[in-house]
Amino acid sequence: MRLLDGKHTSQQLRNEIREEVKKFVEKGNRRPHLAAILVGNNGASVTYVNAKIKACEEVGFASSLIRLSDTISQAELIAEVEKLNADESIDGFIVQLPLPDQIREHKVIMAIDPKKDVDGFHPQNLGRIALNMHAFVPATPAGIVELLDRYNIETGGKHCVVLGRSHIVGLPMSILMSRNGYPGNSTVTICHSHTQNLPEIVHSADIIIAAVGRPNFVTADMVKEGVVVVDVGITRVVDTTKKSGYRLVGDVEFDTVSKKAAFITPVPGGVGPMTIASLLKNTMIAARRRKV
Ligand code: GUN
Repeated sequence: MRLLDGKHTSQQLRNEIREEVKKFVEKGNRRPHLAAILVGNNGASVTYVNAKIKACEEVGFASSLIRLSDTISQAELIAEVEKLNADESIDGFIVQLPLPDQIREHKVIMAIDPKKDVDGFHPQNLGRIALNMHAFVPATPAGIVELLDRYNIETGGKHCVVLGRSHIVGLPMSILMSRNGYPGNSTVTICHSHTQNLPEIVHSADIIIAAVGRPNFVTADMVKEGVVVVDVGITRVVDTTKKSGYRLVGDVEFDTVSKKAAFITPVPGGVGPMTIASLLKNTMIAARRRKV
């Protein structure tokens, strides 16, 4: 078994971006600038957004964090989005999800200028991905593709089973793996809550991408020898032995599945760090595309 080491690979990617920013700025361009809107105080969201802002500093990006009350109305939030759309000093921005119940997420996502949608959540970006056109690919699937690429994982003609059909991970991931190209050209099956015979389907997989958010959902009896496993799950499970009071558990039972896998991502240190690095990469692309 070999680890698909997201921590190491994301550091490589960030070093490359830092070099790219340096040259970009030396040529007289202003620094790439990522903004993040964070609504409310959801613990995981605060952690993720802080990590994104910190990553910006590390590679030499400018960053802005816009914190808004969880009582904000949908119209007020959309007005904030429109301000960022119009702000020429900002190359890309994200609205951290989930949003409070009074706000319909898709209304907010639809308000984001697709050219600044570095999260790749706007339907225009998803449509462009499906058509194999230039697009912002959502950071988690983009990070997974980067990881498969950097480890030279063979994907052509392989059976790739994607567990979960979320708009952020499962759906775009399934499109990317089925597209004509590398990584891609896989035969893709998407499994979800209505799937019958899930263990049998997973057992026939050459590549498993698990994104269901259920700790230890994939067990060793469900996988075949030599499988490539990408674990997107990061559920917080109470653990009083940890300073934080919790530990992160993946969708895959690592200790047992890793004995059968050819390659597997650890949790933490697999997909998570790749996600942040991919967001930076998207922001760099947005900055290169700007006219001012
Ligand atoms: N919530 C969980 N993952 C993400 C992400 O990649 N982007 C945003 N904006 N919100 C998230």
